[in-house]
Amino acid sequence: MTDTVVLPPPDALTEDRLDPTLDLVAEIDRLRREKNAIILAHYYQDGEIQDLADFVGDSLDLSRKAAATDADMIVFCGVRFMGEVAKILSPGKIVVIPDAEAGCSLEESCRPDTFRAFREKHPDHIAVTYINCSADIKALSDVIVTSSNAEVIVNSLPADKPILFAPDRHLGAFIAKKTGRDMTLWPGSCIIHEQFSEKELVKLKVRHPGALVAAHPECPESVLGHADYVGSTKGILDFVIKSPGKDFIIATEPHIIHQMTKAAPEKTFIPAPFANGACASCADCPFMARNTLEKIYLAMVNEGPAIQVPEDLRVQALKPLERMLEMSKSVPMSPDSSGATNAA
Ligand code: 13P
Repeated sequence: MTDTVVLPPPDALTEDRLDPTLDLVAEIDRLRREKNAIILAHYYQDGEIQDLADFVGDSLDLSRKAAATDADMIVFCGVRFMGEVAKILSPGKIVVIPDAEAGCSLEESCRPDTFRAFREKHPDHIAVTYINCSADIKALSDVIVTSSNAEVIVNSLPADKPILFAPDRHLGAFIAKKTGRDMTLWPGSCIIHEQFSEKELVKLKVRHPGALVAAHPECPESVLGHADYVGSTKGILDFVIKSPGKDFIIATEPHIIHQMTKAAPEKTFIPAPFANGACASCADCPFMARNTLEKIYLAMVNEGPAIQVPEDLRVQALKPLERMLEMSKSVPMSPDSSGATNAA
């Protein structure tokens, strides 16, 4: 897999040399102004990171924001593939990520050589690839999708063409069912969504009669079968805000509950359980959790870890991403939903 992260030089400021009395939020704000930076955060980030971001969104809206910004620096608080997407779409900008090791289990499950062989075995198929993958895999794909536009995009592909879908088999199966399309699925899954337990969910529903279940399509079909709503993080957020319901069970990474509580403080949001039932933070994404205020500050000071995508790879990966943006025009963009006041 192509290494797209350039680490800061050895003499760069490090966490152990940070002044512990520093007001990190104020310092990040100062750097944001001085460097004309925009801070983008996924809903799976810690609440304090969501609150200082200029824009909080799902994978599609974050990509759109990264493509359209006139900031000089993009600070991407998410995972590495999201930073890569920003750099592919906005190559003239400095794109930094707080932690070089913030990966993704779906990305890991899909390596370029094996994916190339998968494509070669199905030469007549259109390769529709979930955005949770490396730049190498994007470069080998026909069109990229996210959980909020996959159905629209698959529905608009020529009806006589079979489809390869990678790397999330649960999202793929969900879209195949919705669209009725012939789809061959890559056998990948997200380490978090994979573990939500149908049995524990049913028990939780018994304890909270009337609670509505909102689930991300990365969940297994057995869990989705109990959902009142299935959609992207942004879709789930919109659903709980607009629904007349009062109690909701949320089957996705639970940091999104931060935005739900801000938007609808009178409602109750209950994280969906894993098989062991009781664990409060089991469903926290360990990759997203690597990002901290300290690392955001350091990334802005050091202008690294920075994303650099070799130009030939970038040009190849850009094509299916641009196709995605073009084919997603009917999917509305969220208004800004951040706590920050000085968006670039
Ligand atoms: P969305 O951002 O499309 O809701 O997907 C969640 C996810 O898997 C992010 O990696």
